[in-house]
Amino acid sequence: MRYLITGGAGFIGGHLAEKLLEQENCEKVIIIDNLSTGSLDNLKAIENHPKLQVVIADLTDNDLNLAQYVSEIDCIYHLAAAVGVELVVKEPGHTIYTNVHGTERILDEAVKFNKRIIVASTSEVYGKSDRAYFSETDDLLIGCPTHSRWSYACSKLLDEFYALAYYKSHNLAATVVRFFNTVGPRQTGQYGMVIPRFVEAALQNKAIRVYGDGSQSRCFCHVFDTVRALLALADKQESFGQIYNIGSQRQISILELAKLIIQELNSDSEINLIPYEEAYESGFEDMMHRAPNVSKINKLINWQAENSLEKIIHDVKESCLKKISKDK
Ligand SMILES: NC(=O)c1ccc[n+]([C@@H]2O[C@H](COP(=O)([O-])OP(=O)(O)OC[C@H]3O[C@@H](n4cnc5c(N)ncnc54)[C@H](O)[C@@H]3O)[C@@H](O)[C@H]2O)c1
Repeated sequence: MRYLITGGAGFIGGHLAEKLLEQENCEKVIIIDNLSTGSLDNLKAIENHPKLQVVIADLTDNDLNLAQYVSEIDCIYHLAAAVGVELVVKEPGHTIYTNVHGTERILDEAVKFNKRIIVASTSEVYGKSDRAYFSETDDLLIGCPTHSRWSYACSKLLDEFYALAYYKSHNLAATVVRFFNTVGPRQTGQYGMVIPRFVEAALQNKAIRVYGDGSQSRCFCHVFDTVRALLALADKQESFGQIYNIGSQRQISILELAKLIIQELNSDSEINLIPYEEAYESGFEDMMHRAPNVSKINKLINWQAENSLEKIIHDVKESCLKKISKDK
């Protein structure tokens, strides 16, 4: 099998590339990435792998000969996107353009060459729904466009519509995966990702900044579990034209998470509660809870998250320590 990963130098993409290259039947992995939030550091372990080709390019660039790369592979993982709440709030126009136009381009090529494609979406599409567990067929409750954070959810939702429309109209072998907070080694706190941000602060005994009152809860999934699901989905014909949640079912409030990280790292950090207005923008809307129902993917590939939150914190800590010693 030959694979193309858009956004392959990103956090999830780098782990996925490593695992694909370990598979016996893997003949080639092509990565296309513009290194906007990704980094070649994510590919360090495989940088000299003979089956890996890295193309530094922007997916939305018309000069990129996307057709050539898509024609050479069997399966596409489309992960390239503008991500991270902080980035999205700051640059909603860029977010919409990247996520919609980039996806449109790769889907067009996938149709042209009749290729398998797995499209990364997000739990953000569930919006402000107050259901205890989100299921793939639920109605979605997105906020008003005056709140720019929803530009991410809407752009990803349009990606989903696009992928499923091409499945219906062109028989495209497309699957949508909705990732819930995915965490692990090498994820950077730079774009607002909560666990690396907290771990980096705790390691330096600096104050941990919890936004709002910290009662909002999330479920954190180890990237190793996420990648396991992505690998298993590749050749599952039953998944064509379908959407799947991928996430852990252990919920924790962000305040409890900060306390757990302090405890696990034996840190002296204080916890500071920061109003949302100060952290993001005036009128910022957050989802109180966001937990996946994963019965659909469990039934298909017998998948559920296996790594504990403590293991995630441990792995993020080790990765941060490695980076700190490298930067010294
Ligand atoms: N990590 C999570 O918790 C999470 C949750 C929900 C959805 N997702 C989705 O998973 C995918 C991967 O996310 P990630 O966490 O690895 O983030 P990431 O930022 O590490 O990865 C995204 C990659 O896409 C690249 N990229 C961005 N715009 C590009 C463009 N125009 N052309 C080429 N490359 C481009 C970036 O440089 C980066 O390497 C994204 O689609 C994201 O929306 C992630």
